Amino acid sequence: MKSFCRVMFAVTLIFASAALPALDRQPNADYHARRVALANKLNGGVAILFAAEEPLLDFMPYRQDADFYYLTGWNEPGAALLIEAPQAAQGTHPARPYREIMFLPTRNLRMELYTGRKLDAASPDATQLTGVDEVKMMSDLAVTLNQMAAENRAAAYRIWSEPDTEQAKALVQWTATTLGMESAPPFSDVRTPVQLLRATKDAGELALLHKASDASVQAQFAMMKSVHPGQKERTTTGIIYEKLLENGCERPSYAPIVGSGEKSTELHYSDNSQTMRDGDVVVVDAAGEYSMYASDITRTMPVNGHFTARQREVYGIVLGAQKAAIEGLVAGKSHINDPQHKYPDSLDTIAFNYMNAHGKDLHGEPLGKYFIHGIGHSVGIDVHDPYDYSQPIQKGMVFTIEPGIYIPEEKIGVRIEDVFYVDQDGKLVDLTEALPKDAEAVEKAMRK
Ligand code: GLY
Ligand code: MN
Repeated sequence: MKSFCRVMFAVTLIFASAALPALDRQPNADYHARRVALANKLNGGVAILFAAEEPLLDFMPYRQDADFYYLTGWNEPGAALLIEAPQAAQGTHPARPYREIMFLPTRNLRMELYTGRKLDAASPDATQLTGVDEVKMMSDLAVTLNQMAAENRAAAYRIWSEPDTEQAKALVQWTATTLGMESAPPFSDVRTPVQLLRATKDAGELALLHKASDASVQAQFAMMKSVHPGQKERTTTGIIYEKLLENGCERPSYAPIVGSGEKSTELHYSDNSQTMRDGDVVVVDAAGEYSMYASDITRTMPVNGHFTARQREVYGIVLGAQKAAIEGLVAGKSHINDPQHKYPDSLDTIAFNYMNAHGKDLHGEPLGKYFIHGIGHSVGIDVHDPYDYSQPIQKGMVFTIEPGIYIPEEKIGVRIEDVFYVDQDGKLVDLTEALPKDAEAVEKAMRK
């Protein structure tokens, strides 16, 4: 009966005409500009990227490959993207124009009964819908690459693809074999230049990151109002899920962390299986993903609505450390994610020094040693977006500042985390500033 219902539901989906896209998509021109920017980093070569495959078990969740999504905004499985860099004429070699091709898989009509209609290259509106200049069938990929490499032999030595993808390895091997090369040439990792581009965000991405943060702030607000002694951590988790989805997110951007009492000191506790107790604090690190863009927020609350003197003291020191890091940030100069404190003016070092200067544990030791993780990370399509942390924070970046102090002996864990954007003047914009943060403001938000 269950599988019959599932099939009936799938049939209804197929006959439903032109469903609205599930995700907000930026204008085609934005994705096109990213592909052209990538082409300019290929040293005259050819890039091939693959979309995430549809899960073998159709009821498992699907999430597009982040680099593929960044370049295409395309959220269907199994496609490939080829970008050929333009080249000026050289000697006897004529100039080659920029070229981009999306390869779409053959429709799987059986699978479509379960997961809905997909676009294929035969659809007359395929180029318009994908926004890519040329659209071909997936089965044309190998032939197209072979022709490109045959016309421009040097291109066969300048392939950029995904070294961790079997399809990429097989494709390059096949190209080499059919061109009579002795062995497959090594190819460069295309993720490296794509991820360099992803480090800074354009206006459309920033708008989506704002929406992810706005929805996450709503979820955190609702969560704060609900927390009380006797509430299960999982109930809190459920409230967060409800509000994220209600406010337009497709899912949380990571497994929500709701850790009370001793578990407030466990950085990525996500069992969320305890019942919250009077007198404890609870760390809630939870946020959503809106149209593939993440937010990442943490607030710490007293379960009963009133911090004890010691909890308030530790809370104030974490908040002071965050404020010191915010004030100390200089775009183009300050590093983040420097837990070894290699840089004297990194945000980690500023926060660490602040904690050491402002509080002690039960044994008279400065509190900095209880700050046991990096102070932040880049945020984008991935909640931990790729970034070369040997580089300082740049204008256009979106990242977290999230100091924490975790003292298991006192059952006190405090983390405060917000998401920031550095604008073109180097000014910090707090995407999550609507959410209360001072101890008193948090207590107020908890009152019904
Ligand atoms: N929100 C989880 C983390 O940043 O690690
Ligand atoms: Mn984080």
